Amino acid sequence: MQLADRTHAILPSATLKMAGRAKEMQAQGKNILNMSAGEPDFDTPDFVKDAAVAALKRGETKYTPVLGTVALRKAIAARIEQDYGIKAPIDQIIVGTGGKQVLFNAIVCLLNPGDEAVFGAPYWVSYVDMVRFAGGNPVVVPCPGDFLLRAADMEKVFTPKTRLLIISSPSNPAGAVYSRQELQDIAALLRNYPDIFVITDDIYSGLTYDEPFASLLHVAPDLVNRVLIATGVSKTYAMTGWRIGYGIGPKPLIAAMDNIQAASTSGACSIAQAAAHGALTGDQKPIEQMVTEFRKRRDRMVNGIQSIPNVTLYPPKGAFYVFPKIDAYFTAAVPDSQSLSEYLLEKAYIATVPGSAFGLEGYIRLSFACSDADIDEAIVRLQKGLLSL
Ligand SMILES: Cc1ncc(COP(=O)(O)O)c(C=O)c1O
Repeated sequence: MQLADRTHAILPSATLKMAGRAKEMQAQGKNILNMSAGEPDFDTPDFVKDAAVAALKRGETKYTPVLGTVALRKAIAARIEQDYGIKAPIDQIIVGTGGKQVLFNAIVCLLNPGDEAVFGAPYWVSYVDMVRFAGGNPVVVPCPGDFLLRAADMEKVFTPKTRLLIISSPSNPAGAVYSRQELQDIAALLRNYPDIFVITDDIYSGLTYDEPFASLLHVAPDLVNRVLIATGVSKTYAMTGWRIGYGIGPKPLIAAMDNIQAASTSGACSIAQAAAHGALTGDQKPIEQMVTEFRKRRDRMVNGIQSIPNVTLYPPKGAFYVFPKIDAYFTAAVPDSQSLSEYLLEKAYIATVPGSAFGLEGYIRLSFACSDADIDEAIVRLQKGLLSL
């Protein structure tokens, strides 16, 4: 059978392969500790579930507008005004099936074949696939150390073909967070490059532990016509399975995304939109408690990892991952992060994600979206596994 060329743009995921192997081993009765999760372990709060049940009972079971229900977009507008100080009319807001669909549609709408999209590594895996799928070229800048792509390094890779910059803070996989000064430097640079559009992937904005969340538009509201904020309820409200994300951006882009979404999936699930409305408008106490718990786990995980000899860790300031440097343990038989992750799974019964999956060799990602007991056990298994190499 002959498949279209574009199907080759997306490579098989190393992450899914590891997750599949971990499941296989669990099915064989092996006690695998899964530290590779990309979602909060908390249940969706009850007040959010109640909003979904109420919508079901009201019979909100029909198609919604492609851009999303008016009620949800109004709630998003109110939240964006509160969190970013930006007034967004509801025709500049699109609700999608997860933040992922919003990012995918935006990238497809922004890039022509051959256009370049710049972002730092480690990156969220899907950026590469989405850019390639759109026919664009990912231009990836390695950012070891504290994992932030700063203005000076961006400028070195900007070319006349650069059309898009993607920045994400807090980031996946490193939990790296930009300071306001770093964002101001990026804004100053972007003012010299009027043809470059920016996506700020703010999906982890609700999960910061050391300083208040800041995004590009906080420090540079003058760039509002060149920025799409891509975010959603998945991580902050423990709603990954509900699949609701949203984008806030310039009208022509949102209109183009509306067309693409109309041709593919239409409006997101009506019940999930009602749940997201409940999440954004309800009592935020349970969310604050979740953040407090994540902060404690972050500290526990960081202390544990930093106690392992020859492992270095730049502590995350947000999200729920650590990204330690483990290359001191590479050997002839285990020469890279992929083989190290496989080794840790097979021999230490701990599932991690190799740094190479995020474009940066020498690291692995562990999630701390799990219990304290699992964090403690993960540290023990990781240390034992590494020291046996
Ligand atoms: C950096 C980043 N952006 C976007 C997403 C997409 O989130 P959603 O589950 O809302 O599609 C994820 C999910 O893992 C992510 O890690």
